[in-house]
Amino acid sequence: MDTVVSGIRPTGELHLGNYFGAIKNFIKLQETHKCFFFIADVHSLTTHLKNEKLYENTLKIVATYLACGLDYNKVAIYRQSDVPEIFELYTYLNMLAYKGELERCVTFKEKAKKQPDNINAGLLTYPVLMTADIIIHKANKVPVGKDQEQHLEMARNFVSRFNRIFNIDFFPLPHPYSFDDDLIKIPALDGTGKMGKSENNAIYLTDDVNIIQKKVLKAVTDSGPTEPFQSMSEPIKNLFTFLKIFASENDYNYFLNEYNSCKIKYSELKYFLAEKINNFVQPIREKIFEFFENKNFLEKILNEGKEKARSSAIKTLLEVKKIIGFKI
Ligand code: TYM
Repeated sequence: MDTVVSGIRPTGELHLGNYFGAIKNFIKLQETHKCFFFIADVHSLTTHLKNEKLYENTLKIVATYLACGLDYNKVAIYRQSDVPEIFELYTYLNMLAYKGELERCVTFKEKAKKQPDNINAGLLTYPVLMTADIIIHKANKVPVGKDQEQHLEMARNFVSRFNRIFNIDFFPLPHPYSFDDDLIKIPALDGTGKMGKSENNAIYLTDDVNIIQKKVLKAVTDSGPTEPFQSMSEPIKNLFTFLKIFASENDYNYFLNEYNSCKIKYSELKYFLAEKINNFVQPIREKIFEFFENKNFLEKILNEGKEKARSSAIKTLLEVKKIIGFKI
């Protein structure tokens, strides 16, 4: 059976990008795969080492995982910081990750621009820790959104290097995974780029009907097509991406025809979309709040997850130490 690992940083509420890029796949994979889904709390420290909301945000992710349909009997739901083996493996992997390749990582360069006063070593070695997260369970499938593609490519480089250095076929190569043919990128409603928390443009799974409507109505549009079958500007393409996800084929085709015949009213499209998005978010939102009330239950799940994750991690780490040549 293939093994799956993925994680989400506890930086606050989760949004539609997190859902469609990652969680949607978690839910399907849990039926057929050995799954480890964690909360990347240590990764989140690379932006703010001091974070009073670390614990609260961690529990929020557990509540969201459950509200979206993850079954804690089928998968291990755990906190990264509860599995010390990950960090020991990270140390060893750091010896085969080179400064130059880490500096070339696009997310590193973006973060370095965003936080010029805090370009810390954790930020630089972020892809190494990600690799450790994955291979500590010898996973080969990693359900993530498009923005994580380069991290996964780096992980494969580190893994191949490890196998080559020790002349052993020990770790499988981890590949990004999506049930859709391509990795997903949920766009931003403010025109270009991706939906993200730090981009400040996200629709959260906890947003209520009014907030959703407000956000969707504020979506950037253009002045409308002036000739039939005019190619779409980026913001309009983005709205149609949302339609594809949330509306039926009929409704999608209706708005496409309206666009192609220059009759489209963007406000009609937006009201329609807001309603559809709310229909999707509402049941999840209600369950998130329900689960979040019960902190003891969430803690219990994390404890069970920790046991499952550690028993797998301890085995891998022991083998790694033997391969490296520690006397055990
Ligand atoms: P994070 O916390 O930024 O995002 C969690 C997941 O949500 C996906 N995602 C999106 N997918 C599509 N469209 C979007 N607009 C969008 N925004 C976010 C991300 O691709 C991700 O799958 N480095 C990771 C966390 C991590 C990890 C790992 C993942 C740490 N270790 C090991 C997999 C395996 C991150 O920061 O994701």
